[in-house]
Amino acid sequence: MQHQARCRRFDPMPHAAGSPEITQSGTAFMTRTVYLNGQWLPEDQAKVSIFDRGYVFADAIYEVTAVIGGKLLDYPGHTARLKRSLEAIGISMPVSEDELLDLHHTIVEKNGLDQGLVYLQISRGAEDRNFLFSDNLTPTLSMFTQVVPLLANPKAETGLAVISMPDGRWANRQIKTVQLLYSSLAKMEAKNRGADDVIFVEDGLITEASSANFHIITKSGVLVTRQLSNALLHGITRSSVLSLALTAQLKVEERAFSVEEAQDAAEAFITSAGAFVMPVVSIDGTSIGDGKPGKTTLRIREIYIEDQLSRAMAR
Ligand code: PDD
Repeated sequence: MQHQARCRRFDPMPHAAGSPEITQSGTAFMTRTVYLNGQWLPEDQAKVSIFDRGYVFADAIYEVTAVIGGKLLDYPGHTARLKRSLEAIGISMPVSEDELLDLHHTIVEKNGLDQGLVYLQISRGAEDRNFLFSDNLTPTLSMFTQVVPLLANPKAETGLAVISMPDGRWANRQIKTVQLLYSSLAKMEAKNRGADDVIFVEDGLITEASSANFHIITKSGVLVTRQLSNALLHGITRSSVLSLALTAQLKVEERAFSVEEAQDAAEAFITSAGAFVMPVVSIDGTSIGDGKPGKTTLRIREIYIEDQLSRAMAR
């Protein structure tokens, strides 16, 4: 695919219209006109906050519509899916249906797009990073065009070679990616149901919390934590806590366990860089132990903080 790259050399062909810019050396470059939150801007002047949830949590939806001869293909299907996607994650449509169609036609016209794609993205908006989001955010709506020779695609002649792979979308939680939309929505659901956080369950076994590792201490005093795999993030706090627990002669078992086993444990806690060691006192309304933060958990929290403070790095 030949995307119309940023600052691509000026192409006098009508399909590559837009705003040519003359640089100091006298070379002409193409600048696309893009859309961002009500404004038409040269592509290099459209700026989105680094706090935008699309950037930080992948909390955004998008559509891509093909354009041939300056006309939109399959447009009703794309807008219908756009509405479904927005509704599914609770982002409100920032413009009316008429405005949306007008934006599509206008961006095609402004860029003289003959053949290519219109990309549209709507994120929940920007605010300070938090898995829990506010309900009054203004969505970020951005659009740009790409010149792509859709009809004269040489691959249509030769065909494509493909490889098969396990569908791992997203089964690689050991990688600390910003693909956090599901975690964020899950934590909102927990909040809406009067809870503080969520623990994820797969095949009947707990993987981890929305943004922390989850552990229990059994009635016989064993710290049980799920073994490392692609099912969970390999927490740095988890690792430090396990070393400290072993030093403190606590028995540690690394294995998966169920919600029922956790509910029946003496204590439970999560670990993360933001929560340190945080007691968990109930799961799905069932108290763990006496329903209060566990003594061993609080001791581990103390030891962890003390140990970290003694080794915290200054410049
Ligand atoms: N989250 N599991 C998940 C899914 C996490 O997002 C995190 C951390 C952890 C704990 O990892 P560590 O101990 O290295 O912080 C486990 C961070 C704190 C966050 O997203 O805010």
